[in-house]
Amino acid sequence: MKGIVLAGGTGSRLFPLTKVTNKHLLPVGRYPMIYHPLMRMLRAGVRQVAIVTSPEHMGDVVNLLGSGRALGLDLTYRVQDEPGGIAQAIGLCENFVGEGPVLVILGDNVLEDDLTNHVDAFGDQIRKYGEGARVLLKEVPDPERYGVPRIEEGRIVEVIEKPSDPPSSYSVTGIYFYDRQVFEAIRNLSPSRRGEYEVSDLSNWYASRGTLTHGTLAGWWGDAGTLEGWHEANRLAADLVYPEAESAS
Ligand code: DAU
Repeated sequence: MKGIVLAGGTGSRLFPLTKVTNKHLLPVGRYPMIYHPLMRMLRAGVRQVAIVTSPEHMGDVVNLLGSGRALGLDLTYRVQDEPGGIAQAIGLCENFVGEGPVLVILGDNVLEDDLTNHVDAFGDQIRKYGEGARVLLKEVPDPERYGVPRIEEGRIVEVIEKPSDPPSSYSVTGIYFYDRQVFEAIRNLSPSRRGEYEVSDLSNWYASRGTLTHGTLAGWWGDAGTLEGWHEANRLAADLVYPEAESAS
């Protein structure tokens, strides 16, 4: 399985911390934020990873990570010229992904769980049914900040992006598994009212076909994309050590 880490966007909710640097290079615990999704991929055996970022920050991201060799990763880079949404950023990786499947993690997501079991579960789904997508959920006190699933009879029937009246107490975390159809799905999306190609619409493309499955994270999870979320992620990840990253020069 290949991986994509998304590190584009404007980081406007963390301004002025993000005035001269990319949000994903800010510290979370002992590491730059982007190390967290990358290390979760590495631990789950996903070594070929594409990183998507903006033209302004590509240089800094490459300066930090290079080819990825020091971390045991094989990195590819894609430029997102304008922050047109998470689904648009994924769409830039079509040639990289090839025949799929692919694991996507948002660059501001920080999590405790090893993803190996989820990678295996999605592999089983593809072997058994030949298609589909899978999202990972986490119960949260403030679902209105996230994409929220409406669950009926154990299945996600819809994901609503930042609903004022959340249909469940779960967040769809920024960890997604897709089959190769994802690129066809992205071509069929329309921009939302805020002008972005939304990842929740992508989930809904699969949900409407009955091929969206889900798992749940057991450990802590955080979205470090707001000031409050960034502080919380720093608290949660304070003692997290990735030996692979400690020895890398
Ligand atoms: O963290 C989970 C949440 O992430 C989900 O529950 C939501 O459904 C999903 O839309 C997303 O919400 P956010 O408000 O956190 O999205 P944000 O705009 O902060 O973007 C998340 C990451 O995606 C960010 O670290 C950078 C990357 N990104 C974002 C945009 C809009 C890109 O690479 N390109 C983009 O154009």
